[in-house]
Amino acid sequence: MDEYRGQKVLITGGLGFIGSNLAIRLVQHGASVTLLDSLHPTCGGNYFNIDSIKNHVDQRR
Ligand SMILES: NC(=O)c1ccc[n+]([C@@H]2O[C@H](COP(=O)([O-])OP(=O)(O)OC[C@H]3O[C@@H](n4cnc5c(N)ncnc54)[C@H](O)[C@@H]3O)[C@@H](O)[C@H]2O)c1
Repeated sequence: MDEYRGQKVLITGGLGFIGSNLAIRLVQHGASVTLLDSLHPTCGGNYFNIDSIKNHVDQRR
């Protein structure tokens, strides 16, 4: 995934299961990650999912 180093990536649903795991991998590989999530009440989104990278991503709601 080194091709993402320095790249800007927008992840919709970034606080959910798939989005947060993708975000963690992309941050580890040097991408500049923005998360967009509505925290829809019927979905599994949670800030805890990105706790390990919370200071390394831009969060939008
Ligand atoms: N997890 C799996 O194994 C799996 C398998 C196949 C398909 N999918 C599909 O992939 C998608 C994501 O799965 P998941 O497990 O990460 O779900 P999830 O519920 O954990 O995460 C989805 C996230 O999307 C956010 N969201 C919902 N509507 C939104 C909107 N309009 N704008 C911004 N954010 C919004 C929710 O708040 C939540 O944080 C779902 O559509 C799911 O059906 C998941």
